Amino acid sequence: MGTKICKENLQQIIKSVPMLSASASRLLQLTSNSDHQLLDVVNLVKTDANLTARVLKIVNSAAFGLINEITSIDRAISYLGERIVISIAIGDCAGKLFEKELSGYEAAGGDLWKHDLRTAIAAREIVVQTELEVSPDLAFTAGLLHDIGKSLISDYLQGTVPEAIELISSQDSLDYLEAEEKIIGVDHTLAGFELAQAWQLPEELAEVILYHHQPGNASEEFRLLVYAVHLGDNIAMLGGFGTGSDSMQYRLDPKYTDYITLSPKTLANVMLTVDMEFEKLEESLNNLGRETT
Ligand SMILES: [Fe+2]
Ligand SMILES: [Fe+2]
Repeated sequence: MGTKICKENLQQIIKSVPMLSASASRLLQLTSNSDHQLLDVVNLVKTDANLTARVLKIVNSAAFGLINEITSIDRAISYLGERIVISIAIGDCAGKLFEKELSGYEAAGGDLWKHDLRTAIAAREIVVQTELEVSPDLAFTAGLLHDIGKSLISDYLQGTVPEAIELISSQDSLDYLEAEEKIIGVDHTLAGFELAQAWQLPEELAEVILYHHQPGNASEEFRLLVYAVHLGDNIAMLGGFGTGSDSMQYRLDPKYTDYITLSPKTLANVMLTVDMEFEKLEESLNNLGRETT
């Protein structure tokens, strides 16, 4: 039996985790606005010396294998693309949350980051390959953040895996989310949503975090984005990259077909891209949470 989390506990937990830096927060606000330009991102990054240094360090790391060093932040950002810059900014502030061992899910340190990164790549690819009217980079950021609540509640779920599995198998209609709620009183989507509020994330990202397992409940204006992440999440789990005990223990919303046409061929292409991109991105961002200089 896990320890119940009441509303006050949840706020205490949130107070104990890192906050986003002002520049990371502004970057998320800016890039969720469909009118922004890459130049706006460049100008924002330039106001943060630490972030500028990190972006330059990463673009010149062995993972990208550049022959000539890039010394201008403008060139670095246009080379990396905004999604990688956002990943660096989030990682610098909250990397420890992603890298943490999720003992409540029997998942090792780094598993959440790998799952989130694969979800992010898959969500972006779904948007690109099915030509959804959603910003591909926003889908990526949303994928990266969707399960952040697991890192908040994991300690409270310690030792509850058999109980959760038992609950799900004894009641056909239950999924892992409902098991979390029954066992500790809060599920990872609600915990993540509360963190999204504390971090003042843009509304669309907060909705993805809250509804990624029930995309039909998202507000109409963000539903496409939420469905893209919902599918991306399932693709990450299908590829064998879940976060331990809860992998594939959620329902796939069959109504996704009302929003996204994913032929078997496109699905295969998405999965292939996820494998290829993941290796490259993981290598280039592998210091996330462990190095903040
Ligand atoms: Fe989730
Ligand atoms: Fe997930």
